[in-house]
Amino acid sequence: MSAELTAADAPAKRLSDYRPYPFTLETVRLDFTLDPDATEVRARLTFSPRQEAAALELDGEDLELVSVAVDGRALTPDDYELTKTGLTIPANVLPSQPFTLETVTRIAPSKNTALEGLYMSNGMYCTQCEAEGFRKITYYPDRPDVMARFHVTITGDQPVLLANGDLVESREGYAEWVDPWPKPAYLFALVAGDLRAHSGTFTTMSGRKVATNIWVRPGDEDRCDFALQALHRSMRWDEEAYGREYDLDIFNIVAVDDFNMGAMENKGLNIFNSKWVLASPETATDADYERIEGIIAHEYFHNWTGNRITCRDWFQLCLKEGLTVYRDQQFTGDMRGHATKRIDDVLSLRGRQFREDRGPLSHPPRPDHYREINNFYTATVYEKGAEIVGMLHRLLGAEGYRAALDLYFERHDGQACTIEDWLKVFEDSSGRDLSQFKRWYTDAGTPTLRVRDSFKDGTYTLEFEQETRPTPGQSEKLPRHIPIEVGLLSENGDEVLPSTVLEMTEAKQSFTFDGLATRPVPSILRDFSAPVRLERDVDTSELAFLLTHDRDPFNRWEAGRALAQKVLIGRVLGQETDASFSDAIGALLRDETADPAFRALCLNLPSEDSIAQALYDQGETPDPAAIYAAREGLARDLASAHKTLLAEIFTSTEATGPYSSDPEQAGPRALRLAVLRLLNRIDGGARAGALFASAENMTESLGALAALVQTGQDAAAMAEFRERWQGDRLVMDKWFLVQLANCPPETALERAGALTGDPLFTWKTPNRFRALMAGLSGNHAGFHRADGASYRFYADWLLKLDPVNPQVAARMSTAFETWTRYDEGRREKMRSELERIAAQPGLSRDLSEMTQRLLG
Ligand code: PHE
Ligand code: ZN
Repeated sequence: MSAELTAADAPAKRLSDYRPYPFTLETVRLDFTLDPDATEVRARLTFSPRQEAAALELDGEDLELVSVAVDGRALTPDDYELTKTGLTIPANVLPSQPFTLETVTRIAPSKNTALEGLYMSNGMYCTQCEAEGFRKITYYPDRPDVMARFHVTITGDQPVLLANGDLVESREGYAEWVDPWPKPAYLFALVAGDLRAHSGTFTTMSGRKVATNIWVRPGDEDRCDFALQALHRSMRWDEEAYGREYDLDIFNIVAVDDFNMGAMENKGLNIFNSKWVLASPETATDADYERIEGIIAHEYFHNWTGNRITCRDWFQLCLKEGLTVYRDQQFTGDMRGHATKRIDDVLSLRGRQFREDRGPLSHPPRPDHYREINNFYTATVYEKGAEIVGMLHRLLGAEGYRAALDLYFERHDGQACTIEDWLKVFEDSSGRDLSQFKRWYTDAGTPTLRVRDSFKDGTYTLEFEQETRPTPGQSEKLPRHIPIEVGLLSENGDEVLPSTVLEMTEAKQSFTFDGLATRPVPSILRDFSAPVRLERDVDTSELAFLLTHDRDPFNRWEAGRALAQKVLIGRVLGQETDASFSDAIGALLRDETADPAFRALCLNLPSEDSIAQALYDQGETPDPAAIYAAREGLARDLASAHKTLLAEIFTSTEATGPYSSDPEQAGPRALRLAVLRLLNRIDGGARAGALFASAENMTESLGALAALVQTGQDAAAMAEFRERWQGDRLVMDKWFLVQLANCPPETALERAGALTGDPLFTWKTPNRFRALMAGLSGNHAGFHRADGASYRFYADWLLKLDPVNPQVAARMSTAFETWTRYDEGRREKMRSELERIAAQPGLSRDLSEMTQRLLG
């Protein structure tokens, strides 16, 4: 080829091009000699050919090749082909028998700002190999279906030297680790640094003792115990809920400050963004505690769903991620209550996945092509992937689900699998045909489910119609298999039909219920039994009735949500709205039997972004400033209408005794802060100011700060907070985020600009960059200001970050994924920013793919 391919032209990889690797890799021996600028990696790989006359193709990027030898014979450059992306040794240079390839490469971890491969963070070495980072460490078949046993030695002057598996030898400056379980390279990890452990022991169900450690920088040891206990709870839960026992004698977790994602499930050596490990009442919020517990669980659960059974190729990513998210959701539900967990998960699904699915980035949970796999760690793969597992669970019932999972572990342990393997297990264990169900994996887009009902002679009929809009590359949509859980209520609130799962498989389908004395009130899609958009003409009195009487807590909340949405949309469009929402809120505030966390969720008004989405779905063009005004207006009206009741709740929910992040305390605290956000709009900031001054935990401190900044009364508090916490990186991330996400929209951009000049804005640290940029893009009306100045600012920063850390730049570009929703003026401005990015010379493959997909 004459011209060098630019990143932007890199060809797509296709699922249909999958071919097995022509060699098996029997053993891997890696010897690391650490040095910030010239780490030496000696790799000895034993291959046996599975096909005749196959060339050995190895991936490798940004490596300095020092030497290559086959069975001890040094090769010369004539013997192989070396490119920017790999090393190929032709068949005629290779023995036809098993052979050992030995390479020596050099890499420079101190120069690795992309945080993929081996890099340094605060003087500590660490690795990130998923998805394709191992090829930046050594030449290797870097694909998940090549699984091998790793034996690793580390030579370096750091006091702590860690890798996967069990430690077999260690002395000063040297450690040797053997991982008995075959694994793909993306699960490899190495950590070296001056680290301290917070340690424990876990005894597994068969009585084996496992050493558990949380490794952190000196000074952070006293913020690790919550994570350690969460790990032990996760290990126990996986034994009880899934019969899965841990399989090594040691389990290490390391916290690092510079990390592109949340955390990583490397075998026996999980690496975490320190944000999702470190917790103390003074520095972490209730929500942080819950997330930490959930992420610790998630990475631990990967040991079986991801590591012991892995993915054949990266198109199958949702095989491990969807299932593991589903498992961590079940776990958190068991720990903290299923109703509020389900509501939180659906809020996040709609806020992230439905949003993604409605725009130019929509893709199936199992995509069939991509250019950069890092761009597919999406809400669709993770969260919709989890919803699909949840639907299988609902269709098969608890026992059927468990039987399928037992078969999955039995049949596929040690293998690299596909979605087909996964579904086959459900088909074989239940005898059901899931071929139509499979469309959930292969089709993009959120189905809309329209419902009409009728009642005649004691028979009630529900008539459903499903429709999925065209998505990029998929114009024709066939009907999906949708589990619809319904219940029917009589007019006094009794349940005349308890929850039943209807299975919809046609484009249009009716279900009838006989022998009813009066027309029932339906409760449809209970527990959010499928990731669809339900459309039904319901009047406000019926919603208010469901908010009071539904047995299904999710649908109770959903009814309140729908009421709020109706009122807000009415206000945006300048229509008359009635008092039913305000009345329902009043009733809920008076209902002391309702769970405080649940009441808090009902008090939180829909986000501006979700109102914009709802308007767009109704064929309206959302006006960000009008949405902001409507939401503020409703909050103020609710506060005025219920001020006495709210003030009483604010007083009665004050916590006593030492802080705990358990639901018993976190629930009332969430209610108290939801109430504060309303009252703050009418009390001149008095309560928020007082709470900020007296707060002894981060939940209240940050909650008060968020309330103050909403009404522009935060100057003194913001300065005080910075002064107090400037030495704490995790707390300072919150400081950057909270002010931008919550400030009045007309001040957001100016504030963001000023904050980029703050010496604490260390933009190469992903957490700090994300805090500021997500703060700005999360300020809906501030980001979408009509003159487009926020778009320009944001795009400038993406361009600045791209050469340093393309993965994070690409992921942050999703702030633009809703550009087609808005009016012509905003659309044009967003489009021209995206085009400006796309035209940038030397743009990374990551950001280039994203901008091109965004532009459609
Ligand atoms: N696999 C990680 C998880 O559990 C996420 C991740 C992907 C982390 C890629 C780093 C890089 O969800
Ligand atoms: Zn995961």
